[in-house]
Amino acid sequence: MRTPSRNWPAETLPEIAGELPLNQTFSIAIDGPAGAGKSTIARAAAERLGAMYLDTGAMYRAVGLYFLRRGLDGDVRTVAEHVSEVRVSVKPEGDVQRIFLNGEDVTEAIRTPEASLAASHVAAVPEVRERMVALQREIAKGYSIVMDGRDIGTKVLPDATLKLYVTASPEVRARRRHLELIQKGEEMPFKQVLAEIRERDYNDTHRAASPLVQAEDAHLLDTSNMTMEQSLGEVERLFREAIGG
Ligand code: DC
Repeated sequence: MRTPSRNWPAETLPEIAGELPLNQTFSIAIDGPAGAGKSTIARAAAERLGAMYLDTGAMYRAVGLYFLRRGLDGDVRTVAEHVSEVRVSVKPEGDVQRIFLNGEDVTEAIRTPEASLAASHVAAVPEVRERMVALQREIAKGYSIVMDGRDIGTKVLPDATLKLYVTASPEVRARRRHLELIQKGEEMPFKQVLAEIRERDYNDTHRAASPLVQAEDAHLLDTSNMTMEQSLGEVERLFREAIGG
């Protein structure tokens, strides 16, 4: 085995994955609050390990968008009653995951602050969660996969090879989100971004159905004072440890 690289060049992790017994798949569950860096870490790890990446938040966003368009995203009973009308599917396309709502490509449409909030409302509805969890497990079957969300380590993939709970302070997360919005040419006062992060944190951690919690066997990764490269280095180390390397 080669000495692990400090800065995780692209070829390092496939080599680690290659140390797994033949035909053995693995799964990495990444949970944590909004804006902690989960998806960037998950996408990079999946790419470097040659695994599939599934952004489960996008699935809840698609459901949220359906009810937002109908003006019903805050009404728990109506959402539960009409959830069977919603078909969500995902299709990997290069390093992008395209997401479809009843056949319509909504990959871009789900990335608005309104869709974010709608997602956190519908994600509190047990009937929605049941359907999404079943779909996520179905997608994962037979593949090596990196999944990020809120309940992956606790509910969707309880036997994941490696579980991570990625977090950062609300201010750091809001600063990152704010920067992302500016880069997309969208103006929003920092205070509002921070308020929305706090509101989503509250919704995600206080709902009765699968609230966001750190799984007992998940490793805590606080990225507040870490660069992405440092975070990825830590994931590499933990993955090696998890597969006994
Ligand atoms: O990760 P995200 O911001 O795209 O997620 C959108 C919303 O969906 C967020 O408020 C929490 C919810 N969610 C969830 O409840 N469970 C998941 N596995 C993923 C996301």
